[in-house]
Amino acid sequence: MDSHTLVDAAMSFGTPLYVYDLPFVLQRISVVTELFKDFDFHLAFAVKANFNKDILSALEKSGAMVDVVSFGEYNQVRSVGFTPDRIIVNGNCKKKEELDKYVQDGVFSINLDSYEELLRLETVLSRPARVSIRVNPDVDAKTHRHIATGLRENKFGVDFDTASAMIERIRSNKMLELIGLHCHIGSQITEVEPYLEAVVSIKYFARSVGLRVQVFNLGGGWGIDYGNGKSLDLEEYRQKIFPILKEFGSAIVLELGRWIVAPSAYLVSKVEYVKKTASKIFVMLDTGMTHLIRPALYGAKHKIIPLYETKGRKKIKADVVGPICESADTFRKSYTMAEPKEGEFVAICDVGAYGYAMASDYNLIPKPKEVIWDGKKLFRSS
Ligand SMILES: Cc1ncc(COP(=O)(O)O)c(C=O)c1O
Repeated sequence: MDSHTLVDAAMSFGTPLYVYDLPFVLQRISVVTELFKDFDFHLAFAVKANFNKDILSALEKSGAMVDVVSFGEYNQVRSVGFTPDRIIVNGNCKKKEELDKYVQDGVFSINLDSYEELLRLETVLSRPARVSIRVNPDVDAKTHRHIATGLRENKFGVDFDTASAMIERIRSNKMLELIGLHCHIGSQITEVEPYLEAVVSIKYFARSVGLRVQVFNLGGGWGIDYGNGKSLDLEEYRQKIFPILKEFGSAIVLELGRWIVAPSAYLVSKVEYVKKTASKIFVMLDTGMTHLIRPALYGAKHKIIPLYETKGRKKIKADVVGPICESADTFRKSYTMAEPKEGEFVAICDVGAYGYAMASDYNLIPKPKEVIWDGKKLFRSS
């Protein structure tokens, strides 16, 4: 999607505005499907990254599965046509009524996050259910601590001893079918080593308890390049991880979110004005941390591109900020850019994952609109 399309979007729909490049999303699906072509492979898109209905609908048509973590997400994917057998249920604290519904509907897999959750599930088994166990392999994903999930100290999944006890219990229950193991060690992972450590330890664990898994679900986490040149090297991943996955001899599921959608979207914003103080220049945008919380929450640095003529413009070093009453409402600090004028547009890049999905009503500033670029035209998303 080029900058003219983004300006068109801003002029036609007003700002602030999320603009999604749908062909990009479909291309990502093709890349990952092609990479895993020698496996019985299923991509289960992590809906937490982006629950936009038009994007989910395109994923549904592509044949992908989905991973959901709440009733809200479950209902959203059902509303665009995903049948329960294409839905994987995750989440570290599933409610009883949620489990009840997932069992009744017959989802592809309920990924159990704890022994306690297994006991809870047993109380709602109105019919047989397919389950997996989320193991926590105690691996450092080398990512931001807020999105590292595979360390023993994290709340997610169970250690191998607990997993053994769960396997025994599940095997003794005719209403439960253990289809496999699941792990998700973190998000925005840019090194292959943590994945290698995880799959090797899970392989040995499965062997030690005599478990032949039908489905090995490796979660998501593939890191993208947010502008610092670092992303997961897929060729290295293929070389190091595939031989071990082949040893499993099972179907492989990946619950990718960020890698599929993050680079597909821009948050287009209008420059309200440029504020100059004795020590600083602030570029004030009409969007802030309530529309994109990643910089405030994770210290994330998103590239910001000008959608105005930069030739001959003075370069400034500015803090690019929003209208929210928090100093954390800062997208970039000391960011070098061509000085914008009031009313000109900028685009914040790579916001398709954990962008709109994490937006809030704080300060009661309305959420941005969402617009889809389908390769030919722009349209307002429902
Ligand atoms: C269980 C699970 N699967 C998949 C994902 C998606 O991760 P990512 O967007 O990094 O691919 C997450 C994200 O936190 C998750 O918790």
